[in-house]
Amino acid sequence: MESRLTVNLEKMSQVANSALYLLVIAFFLLGHFMSFYFHFLTVTFFMLTLINVYYLYIQKHHALLSNFGFMAQIRYMIESIGPEFRQYLYMSDTEEKPFNRIERSEVYRKAKNSDSSSAFGSLSAFDHREIKLRHSMFPVEKSTLNSFELTFAQERSIPNVFTITKPFMISAMSYGALSSNAVRALARGAKKSNIPMNTGEGGYPKHHLKEGCDLIFQMGTAKFGVRNEDGTLNDAKLETIATLPEVKMIEIKLSQGAKPGKGGLLPKEKISEEISELRGVPMDKDVISPPAHKECTSPLETLKFIRRVQEISQLPVGIKLCLGRLDEFSDLIIKMTSQKIHPDYIVIDGAEGGTGAAPKPFMDDIGVPIFKALPEVQKILKTHGLRDKLKLIASGKLINAGKHFVALSLGADAVYTARGFMLAIGCIQAMQCNSNTCPVGVTSHNPKLLRGLDINQKSERVANYIHNLWHDHEEMLASMGMHNHQELSESNLYIPAHY
Ligand SMILES: Cc1cc2nc3c(=O)[nH]c(=O)nc-3n(C[C@H](O)[C@H](O)[C@H](O)COP(=O)(O)O)c2cc1C
Repeated sequence: MESRLTVNLEKMSQVANSALYLLVIAFFLLGHFMSFYFHFLTVTFFMLTLINVYYLYIQKHHALLSNFGFMAQIRYMIESIGPEFRQYLYMSDTEEKPFNRIERSEVYRKAKNSDSSSAFGSLSAFDHREIKLRHSMFPVEKSTLNSFELTFAQERSIPNVFTITKPFMISAMSYGALSSNAVRALARGAKKSNIPMNTGEGGYPKHHLKEGCDLIFQMGTAKFGVRNEDGTLNDAKLETIATLPEVKMIEIKLSQGAKPGKGGLLPKEKISEEISELRGVPMDKDVISPPAHKECTSPLETLKFIRRVQEISQLPVGIKLCLGRLDEFSDLIIKMTSQKIHPDYIVIDGAEGGTGAAPKPFMDDIGVPIFKALPEVQKILKTHGLRDKLKLIASGKLINAGKHFVALSLGADAVYTARGFMLAIGCIQAMQCNSNTCPVGVTSHNPKLLRGLDINQKSERVANYIHNLWHDHEEMLASMGMHNHQELSESNLYIPAHY
């Protein structure tokens, strides 16, 4: 006969609920006959009894509390600390999501400049489902590698082209989603290492500008910082931002991987006075950006808008999107060719991308993942003769050099990472970006939590992460027998047949 040790909550709660009444009576009698001090306990247990009566007979929200009283509250308490227990005690190194401990540790080690070699064997799964890189039988000397250069808007021959010297950049994360200290630590690190940082859709880049790094100003669908009251583009405001010497490119966000087809969401808990001023929004309401730009209602209108932004800004202009319906994307590219209007770059953000806040179905089930999207995008661009006219940037969990190389081999010219850089400045994946309670101050505006994020120290970590990523890039390129990143192509990938 099967014997199981089970917790009989019903019996336990009956005993506990009756015990409460008995304790009140017992301490009342003790207080009355022995010492007045027992009444402190009488009052305590009496209050507990009242709460228990409320749970059992009055509140209707929680069935467990109605059925079992305060004993059920213990379950809620344990459940609330479950994630921390699982993360620290029970989950294996490869189990956590979105980034497991091995992936996070690699970033932490790079950011702290600690030895990142490991022994005995890889802890990653070799389960035949992963794309791998093919090395060469004839590796080259690192000293023979060529330097990296990628110039945006070269094809349009405008005076303000922008050149990057490493094929990775800090992806869009707004001030609002990130704290001011986090923005400044990232911007200072970017400046030290000479890579650009995307401002995200948070409006005027006040905190970024304090650090003087190269910026890509992003315009989300709400156009924070460059909007008219009705949400359309204010040309004069855009021109002012575009003439800031730090602003090197403008990015029009059409959609992003974590919530494609859905506007951004900034919960009211995170709207400080300053954020409300920089964005031009009230403090007492969640800020919901529209799902699309008012100006972009069709492919032709979208192209007109891109041209308008190029003309106002006189800078390279890119668009960011998560790949969805292929017919629509093809149509947009076909119109680019026929109208002779194209952005200077396209960012493809994989469905696995992160965000400060998004509804779960959008995060889980909508959009094409980056390694599936890139070949499709590459094919469409080539078919319609546009591949040589613009640059392609990829993002979506590309936090190490190996993943960068897969994306570059699948057609990207450069990659963006957002959460890689969050980890570098101390993010512990507490998954609280939407609640102003981030325990390490990366996404919280609570001054007490911000205190712990030292801008100078964390900017060093950003610089270390960049330096060590670049070191891996050079080592890997040499092992693949190549001298330039531009040589990477699908032929140096092992792609499983059923991938
Ligand atoms: C906290 C946070 C805030 C973000 N804010 C923006 C934003 O303002 N605009 C945007 O286009 N993407 C935003 N993203 C998405 C990232 O820029 C990026 O596309 C996505 O997370 C994939 O990169 P990753 O996997 O390296 O994080 C945000 C992501 C995070 C985690």
